[in-house]
Amino acid sequence: MVAPVVRRFRPVEVISCVAILSILVDGAVDVTGCPTEFLGRCTCRRDKYEDRIQFITNCTNTRFTDVSLLEQIPPETEVLIFTGNTLHDLPANVFGLEENNLTVVDLSDNRIRTIKGQTFHHVSDVYRLILNSNDIEITNGNEHKRLFSNFEVLRELHLTNAFNDRVNSTVALMSLERIFRGSELTHLRRLHLEDNEIDSVGNPNIFCELPNVEQILLSYNRIFSFPFNISCLKKLRFLDLEFNNIQTLDQTTLILFDQIPELTVDLKGNPFVCDSYLSDMLTWMKKTPVYLRQRTDYVCKEGRPSSNIGLALDDVKETEATSYMVIKTTSGSDTFWTVFLTLFVVSILLGSAYAYRRRKAILNKLAPEWRNLVSKLYYTSLVEPEPTPEAL
Ligand SMILES: *[C@@H]1O[C@H](CO)[C@@H](O)[C@H](O)[C@H]1NC(C)=O
Ligand SMILES: *[C@@H]1O[C@H](CO)[C@@H](O)[C@H](O)[C@H]1NC(C)=O
Ligand SMILES: *[C@@H]1O[C@H](CO)[C@@H](O)[C@H](O)[C@H]1NC(C)=O
Ligand SMILES: *[C@@H]1O[C@H](CO)[C@@H](O)[C@H](O)[C@H]1NC(C)=O
Repeated sequence: MVAPVVRRFRPVEVISCVAILSILVDGAVDVTGCPTEFLGRCTCRRDKYEDRIQFITNCTNTRFTDVSLLEQIPPETEVLIFTGNTLHDLPANVFGLEENNLTVVDLSDNRIRTIKGQTFHHVSDVYRLILNSNDIEITNGNEHKRLFSNFEVLRELHLTNAFNDRVNSTVALMSLERIFRGSELTHLRRLHLEDNEIDSVGNPNIFCELPNVEQILLSYNRIFSFPFNISCLKKLRFLDLEFNNIQTLDQTTLILFDQIPELTVDLKGNPFVCDSYLSDMLTWMKKTPVYLRQRTDYVCKEGRPSSNIGLALDDVKETEATSYMVIKTTSGSDTFWTVFLTLFVVSILLGSAYAYRRRKAILNKLAPEWRNLVSKLYYTSLVEPEPTPEAL
């Protein structure tokens, strides 16, 4: 009997075989239509996007951590959806050195922190850039002023919840203004800045670098009084201010709005205080040419008289003066004052309890003639006028 010869492959042979195979399949696509490097997690194919058949490369929630995959997207890609990954830092030439056909780039939710000045090349046909839900850190002049300068026809810039929460939004907006100035986004029509904790701006003329902007979306920020100079924006048509902290709009802002022809403003979800401070705005609402979108949903969060509370602004018949302190409580920092007052009361109670026990302990050690005097002092100090919280 001759035993069959079993030829075993040595590990080195297996490895070189795999290496040769992977060289052969490099640049190959799998059943998803995408390069094999995408591990079957994406789809790359022609499909409908905005009423047109386009080549869409779609890597959604793919958990990639290798930013160099962006260089390997199929060259015919027009719409690139690359979201739900961990990229952190975008390098120079993020889409490679070759020409491409990109028109839409969605890099949302990728934990992007830094974007280099040379990151976006070969993006001259991109009309929509989406950078929502990232942690972009642009602060104190470390931004790259020409960041968007290669987007020659950019019409929409989406920066919803785009900045790192640790970055002061005022500082971020100042950086953004320098970037706008360096990038010459003359085709930009729509700017999304929702949900960025914006409360104030360093430079009220920040949007003046976007001469053709038509829509500025600022909902879900913390705007208390409108801080932007928009009289430079001749094309502005829509200002979305839903769900901010606006209690009333002052005369300057109302005049500013009125000067822009065919302007639509949305103020839904703001905590309007329907007291005498609102009367200018109420008068304005009756005669302004500005179209107030969803105006039946503008509701009094606070009011004087208190019967105004819950009324639609259009239904408010009368307003009364409110004292300064009452306005403070309703200034969108209700939680702060509630917590503050609770802590204040609790600490007074604890303090009194502690002091009472200490006093007893101390008094017991004192001679009787001293006890009376100390007791008297103790009560005197308690009735000292404390800063009374009732005015708050
Ligand atoms: C991309 O893929 C995700 C998840 O598969 C899907 O929900 C989304 O609609 C796709 N986007 C486009 C533009 O095809
Ligand atoms: C880009 O699109 C043009 C025409 O739409 C086409 O001729 C060209 O091959 C495309 N480029 C790539 C890299 O697919
Ligand atoms: C943010 O920065 C501005 C301008 O430097 C400053 O006035 C403001 O107090 C800062 N806000 C916070 C919350 O640090
Ligand atoms: C607002 O913009 C207009 C037009 O660009 C300009 O004339 C004016 O000085 C600006 N106002 C402020 C306060 O910067």
